[in-house]
Amino acid sequence: MSDKKASNQMWGGRFASGPAAIMEAINASISFDRKLYAQDIRGSIAHSEMLAQTGIISAADQEKIAHGLNTILKEIEAGTFEFSTRLEDIHMNVEARLADLIGSAAGRLHTARSRNDQVAVDLRLWVKDECFRVAEALKGLISAFLERAEEHAATVMPGFTHMQAAQPVTFGHHCMAYVEMFSRDLSRVRDAIERMDESPLGAAALAGTSFPIDRHQTAKALGFREPMRNSLDSVSDRDFALEFLGLAAICATHLSRLAEEIIIWSTPQFGFVRLSDSFSTGSSIMPQKKNPDAAELVRGKTGRVTGHLVGLLTVMKGMPLTYGKDMQEDKESVFDAAETLDLMLAAMTGMVRDMTVNAAAMKKAAGSGHATATDLADWLVRTLGLPFREAHHVTGRAVALAEEKKVSLEKLSLEDLQSINPGITEDIFSVLAVQNSVKSRTSFGGTAPSEVRKQIRTWKKRIAKA
Ligand code: ARG
Repeated sequence: MSDKKASNQMWGGRFASGPAAIMEAINASISFDRKLYAQDIRGSIAHSEMLAQTGIISAADQEKIAHGLNTILKEIEAGTFEFSTRLEDIHMNVEARLADLIGSAAGRLHTARSRNDQVAVDLRLWVKDECFRVAEALKGLISAFLERAEEHAATVMPGFTHMQAAQPVTFGHHCMAYVEMFSRDLSRVRDAIERMDESPLGAAALAGTSFPIDRHQTAKALGFREPMRNSLDSVSDRDFALEFLGLAAICATHLSRLAEEIIIWSTPQFGFVRLSDSFSTGSSIMPQKKNPDAAELVRGKTGRVTGHLVGLLTVMKGMPLTYGKDMQEDKESVFDAAETLDLMLAAMTGMVRDMTVNAAAMKKAAGSGHATATDLADWLVRTLGLPFREAHHVTGRAVALAEEKKVSLEKLSLEDLQSINPGITEDIFSVLAVQNSVKSRTSFGGTAPSEVRKQIRTWKKRIAKA
């Protein structure tokens, strides 16, 4: 196996013509960066207009270029454009076709530009658009939660810590916790847009150019606030992609926690919610089953989104300034994370809107497990002036007595309670009922329906403006 042909057969089996085919396969990005066609054409038109206005190319050539690029846009959208792996990426595919269409003027488009600043501007435009899409989807999900919260501001359910029933809360309050989480995601999207709103175009390969270009003009034409200030940073920066993946991973994590709750709540053992048929499936063998597949997939897809963040962080950590071909690996992560997140948000919004809440089951569970024990302790502090630690101890004895008698705390008689502390009066029962427990928690941000309604009003106004 010492001759060249034989060793090539050993490692190049899939690649018909040896090293050249392998190089083409590892080098080409057209199979995925074709997604950037609209941004690439937009960027090229803006660049050509600037070249004409600064006198770097003629107005006649610019017109031909713009016309050709618009034709290409139509061809791609009509599905008649022939993408070629030979031509490596979207930039070269478009430019080669432009030469077919308009001849030598096409060669002037790349003056004072490099694929390094071109790909940076294309991907930034794409990620920025996606951020606006995510913001809209988040607003939809938040609105769905606000509606459910309003409907269930006074619906009691058990609140959990350690997955153990802790204190009664309302379902509306629980929904509003998600409003807070997804609103933070929304503000992260807005912050990220703010930071990525600078144009790298005109940095050329890395050092800028000797042509009298106007980077402010192209930045403005492409909807950026301003050009990036350092040409090296312009072509080497992928923070905008990392930030997008970061906010996507955090948002996906929130969606996954919600999915997990929905999965638990919809088990027959809990029975807190029933998912609509549109977001669940039956079992092919067990007719009684209704599986929360959409929620499970949201939970599962979170791994993918987080994986993309870790993937790109790992690519970027080894990159000396400025551009290196490694950075071509940014796109699939970003595209897949975006597509996945869009789908997760849509599915979750649908699930939240459509699910049926079983208020009776929630209420029953809220009253079990001596969930109002803290209320009993608080009453002892407030009414009898006991130190909290002592109240905690007295309550512990009341819980033990209830367990002994196999009843819940509020079913103990006054005599029972007085046998533990003679100071206890009839008034104690006003706090032992879950509804009253919930109503009494009026501290700012607390679970009292009056507080929850206040928060709903505030958020409705904020979201309308967000
Ligand atoms: N396809 C490349 C990428 O996605 C475009 C930039 C190539 N630049 C270069 N100097 N080879 O990163």
